Amino acid sequence: AVDISVLRDQTGYVTLDRGYKNTGATQSAITFLDGEEGILRYRGYSIEELAAKASFLEVSYLLIYGELPTQEQYDSFATAIRRHTLVNEDMRKIFDGFPVSAHPMCVLGSLVNAMAAFYPDSYDGSNNTDLHITRLMAKLPTIATWSYKRSLGHPTNYPKNELDYIPNFLNMMFALPVEDYKVDPVVAEALNVLLILHADHEQNCSTSTVRLVGSSQANIYSSIAAGINALWGPLHGGANQEVIEMLEEIKAGGGDVAKYIDMAKNAKTTGFRLFGFGHRVYKNFDPRAKIIKKAADDVLNKLGVNDPVLEIAKGLEEAALNDPYFVQRKLYPNVDFYSGIIYRALGIPTNMFTVLFAIGRLPGWIAQWKEMREQKEPIGRPRQIYTGATLREFVAIGDRK
Ligand code: ACO
Repeated sequence: AVDISVLRDQTGYVTLDRGYKNTGATQSAITFLDGEEGILRYRGYSIEELAAKASFLEVSYLLIYGELPTQEQYDSFATAIRRHTLVNEDMRKIFDGFPVSAHPMCVLGSLVNAMAAFYPDSYDGSNNTDLHITRLMAKLPTIATWSYKRSLGHPTNYPKNELDYIPNFLNMMFALPVEDYKVDPVVAEALNVLLILHADHEQNCSTSTVRLVGSSQANIYSSIAAGINALWGPLHGGANQEVIEMLEEIKAGGGDVAKYIDMAKNAKTTGFRLFGFGHRVYKNFDPRAKIIKKAADDVLNKLGVNDPVLEIAKGLEEAALNDPYFVQRKLYPNVDFYSGIIYRALGIPTNMFTVLFAIGRLPGWIAQWKEMREQKEPIGRPRQIYTGATLREFVAIGDRK
């Protein structure tokens, strides 16, 4: 049920829709989502077809520029990105100032914001949107790998521009100077599917944040950095890390799925939620979760990985789908429920899961920021219902009780 009221405060009537459950903030031609039917389309193309047939860069182009690229358009987009994968060496000094234990999402958000300082043409009035888009798409994977490499005490890898987008990222993540590293095509393909599934999701929390920050005409780097920070929260993109930690905890406790179902049913008193379950708009199933669940089986089989948490996840899903609490509230696995199991099988550490989500969501954020600017949207500025004191007289500090 959506709880919307029109309330009156001292100044007049205002609509109150906490969490914007049924309030549109924009018109958008980018992503179509039908939560009842479990449909998700980017620019009219079904997510199922894109995940099966497209590359992440093609989908990025589609989201950002509105059409699937011709071969020529694709080549020039991909080449421009290749040419910008290096990150200014001075950014390393900022990076080096972070504690080794810093969460990679904190580092990522900070460094993307710092990009504005390195590219003042983002706020000096010059009209370089395509160049900023290229820089962001090119440099985010490079920056993302730094945190992981440093957590291992390894040197960071420079991009290798003969590699495609995803193999280049994997090479920066996993190659060591002392031995040859060859990207496993199974790993690259699995990542391609995951990134496509995460690439846009209309007006979710991080995307709305990007649009809202951008609506003040803040530069694109700072707007995207704000989106990264919003994504980090455990109720949004941070849920993928929470899911694996929860599944690990269940495994360590002997696999008692029922105990966690009970805790989640008493969410109001326990404060515990089943991470990876429930969605603001999907009320039947999350089409991304459906694809990812199948992909998890395929990828683990192909890589010969036997991860006991996959069975725990399936058991938890089965138990929840048969429990009236979850059925009545229409709580189903969301995109984050099975994605972490795949990331893990690909060798990606848990605290990098949300970073992977950010790399996937970047073209969506960019597309939404661009659309917001092109539509010349006014500054976003929600209203409130004031519930505080009426006019009071100032009391000097010595007279206060
Ligand atoms: N576990 C247990 N109960 C839940 C869960 C859950 N995961 N999710 C919702 N509920 C319950 C709520 O307690 C509430 O119960 P009530 O009717 O008795 O009060 C009811 O279901 C509705 O929940 P709301 O919080 O009102 O739903 P909302 O649309 O605001 O929240 C959200 C959606 C944030 C995704 C929520 O389901 C949640 O916290 N899930 C866990 C975190 C998660 O997986 N986030 C990732 C979402 S996908 C993404 O962002 C990429």
